[in-house]
Amino acid sequence: MPHITAFARNQWYVAAYGREVGRELLGRTILDEPIAFYRTEVHGTVTGGEVVALADRCVHRRFPLSAGRLDGDTVVCGYHGFTYDTSGTCVYVPGQKRVPRTARVSSYPVVEQDSLVWVWIGDPALADTGAIPRAPHLADSENWTTVGGMEPIDCGYGLLVDNLLDLSHETYLHGGYIGTPEVAETPMTTEVDEGAGIVRVSRHMDDAACPPFYSRSTGIEGRITRWQDIEYHAPCLYLLHSRIAPRGVLPRPDGGDPDAFHVEITYAITPSTDRHVYDFWSVSRDFGHGDEEMSAFLHDFNREVVRQDVDALNLLQKALDTEPPGYQELSINIDTGGLAARRILARLAAQGARPAAATAPAGSR
Ligand code: FES
Ligand SMILES: [Fe+2]
Repeated sequence: MPHITAFARNQWYVAAYGREVGRELLGRTILDEPIAFYRTEVHGTVTGGEVVALADRCVHRRFPLSAGRLDGDTVVCGYHGFTYDTSGTCVYVPGQKRVPRTARVSSYPVVEQDSLVWVWIGDPALADTGAIPRAPHLADSENWTTVGGMEPIDCGYGLLVDNLLDLSHETYLHGGYIGTPEVAETPMTTEVDEGAGIVRVSRHMDDAACPPFYSRSTGIEGRITRWQDIEYHAPCLYLLHSRIAPRGVLPRPDGGDPDAFHVEITYAITPSTDRHVYDFWSVSRDFGHGDEEMSAFLHDFNREVVRQDVDALNLLQKALDTEPPGYQELSINIDTGGLAARRILARLAAQGARPAAATAPAGSR
């Protein structure tokens, strides 16, 4: 099965971290759709309102609305001043009283959850039918300390899905950071829930070297028990539950696990265009709360790891673009999770086809 190129529309996607959306317009292109985001005013404060998502093209001459400005809760186009309310309806045009009836831009359903801003791309009438997967640790600052960021990559989003579902690349691409020989050497198990669109890939290493990412943050010296349990909720949310403990230390029979360190590594994979993807990444830990130095270390170290992936995927996409159509790949055991993800994404993309294509009368094609 080839790399995924079609988009799964009629799905929720992470557009931004909640902290990125405020009283400045933010422009992002999601599944080829340019969208302007902002937060409405709350009386007496300048932040804390609802997130609004409008098509980022003025109806007048297609100027990006994200390059304009806010006036209260309305958006004023930066070119000739057409002004839109939160529903996308134009409420003012310059030089005349009558606002043309067709003067409106699309607005997108938005949900803010777990500190992430999710936007629904596709038919807005179907937005209620799509469940949004949870990442509660991101907003649970009492039990988890989180650092994160976003790196755009110049590749199709399928390459990032492949990358994250097979962590054996840590050994080769991230050696000296998070990779050790055991990651590539240890077989993993894969479980696929086709109906729910979830792929689970687990790799439990019982006796592994501790990479700098974990030795420096946990202080463990010597060899470790390292568990990696991936949960990919297609198309957008990827959770890696990482458990680190001194070698031989296992969870207690009652499920308690006080002698281990837990790190939740969260990615949101949001396609921008067919050659561009937003890579949102976060690292949440259940130890060292309030330790700013540790937070800075984990942030900078993980950003470096993400940039290693960015460089590799930019290079890989360039190489693939020079290949003839229908090029061959050779898949092995480590690719089981990635291949399952491709199957699910292909199905979601087929379901989410634009209604015009889906409803074309029989015999017209
Ligand atoms: S392009 Fe927006 S007002 Fe002219
Ligand atoms: Fe990586």
